[in-house]
Amino acid sequence: MQLPQALAAAVQEITSSFSGSDLTCAASELTGAYRGQRRGRPQLDDLHRAAYLVTRLPATYAVLARILHECRQTFFQLQIDSLLDLGSGPGTALWATAAAFPELKQATLLENSSPWIEIGKRLAASSNHAAIRGTDWKLGSVTDQLPKESFDLVTILYVLNELNTEQRLSTVEAAWQRTTKLLVIVEPGTPAGFLNIRALRKVLIVKSANIVAPCPHSLECPMSGNNWCHFAERLPRGQEHRLLKNATLGYEDEKYSYVAFSREPVSLPDARILRHPRKHSGHVELELCTVGGLKSETVSRKQGALYKRARKAEWGDNL
Ligand SMILES: C[S@@+](CC[C@H](N)C(=O)[O-])C[C@H]1O[C@@H](n2cnc3c(N)ncnc32)[C@H](O)[C@@H]1O
Repeated sequence: MQLPQALAAAVQEITSSFSGSDLTCAASELTGAYRGQRRGRPQLDDLHRAAYLVTRLPATYAVLARILHECRQTFFQLQIDSLLDLGSGPGTALWATAAAFPELKQATLLENSSPWIEIGKRLAASSNHAAIRGTDWKLGSVTDQLPKESFDLVTILYVLNELNTEQRLSTVEAAWQRTTKLLVIVEPGTPAGFLNIRALRKVLIVKSANIVAPCPHSLECPMSGNNWCHFAERLPRGQEHRLLKNATLGYEDEKYSYVAFSREPVSLPDARILRHPRKHSGHVELELCTVGGLKSETVSRKQGALYKRARKAEWGDNL
């Protein structure tokens, strides 16, 4: 999923004042921090924020775009008029939400770093979407300064690993209280990121939140041992991004763990595909999460319509 043209151009304008080699150094420091190798809040300066715009913003954007697409598949009538994004950084969720739900009318973004808010405002000024341009940027902490109003969609992307366990729980509970339709929480696709998601999933299910994705049920999560539930979103890497990461491939796979909840119960798919399907001639091997737990399943040509779907299916799709 490519960034909207206006956003890509605004990012380019901000990052062009830094040298390539400085950005490369900063990008590699960020990669470690956001893969969860370091817990807590990374210390960012203008250079790191610029590197974030080139390397992390496109990945986060693509991940949320994919998740919103998944939610829409399960929740056909979904219409989003208002957004609350917690720990918004440069406003990544704002742009992805406006692209997925062009009907978006109002957005409130809460962030406790004023340099990020300044950057977010500069980026937003390049959009011709009224809700993006008119965003209500709030400086404050997600742990205790949430707005009182409710919002159709509440998003928390790559923020919880900067909070402690108690703060994570109270923030997510407060976020759910303000959600009228859909709550989406995303963490890095690492064992630590998944453990955060699994713990919060359990807490919200007890509060009668309805799973939309990725789980095909609200039962206890069957993942255990060294296994962790995560997905990968493939996104194109621009030339600058390739240079900053010393990468040769024209794409990268962003690994993420997530959960989406709705106020209304939705009908869930039979299964979620948990790994790249192994496609052979005449059969496809799938690793699935189902209501009966984790399963390895082989779908053969004889299974007609199911086989056709399995041949086209990718990691993260439902079945
Ligand atoms: C990894 S960045 C993610 C930014 C954005 N959600 C995205 O996906 O692009 C984490 C963001 O959370 C913000 N943050 C961390 N702790 C916060 C808190 N207690 N209150 C508000 N914002 C916070 C940081 O300043 C940073 O902008």
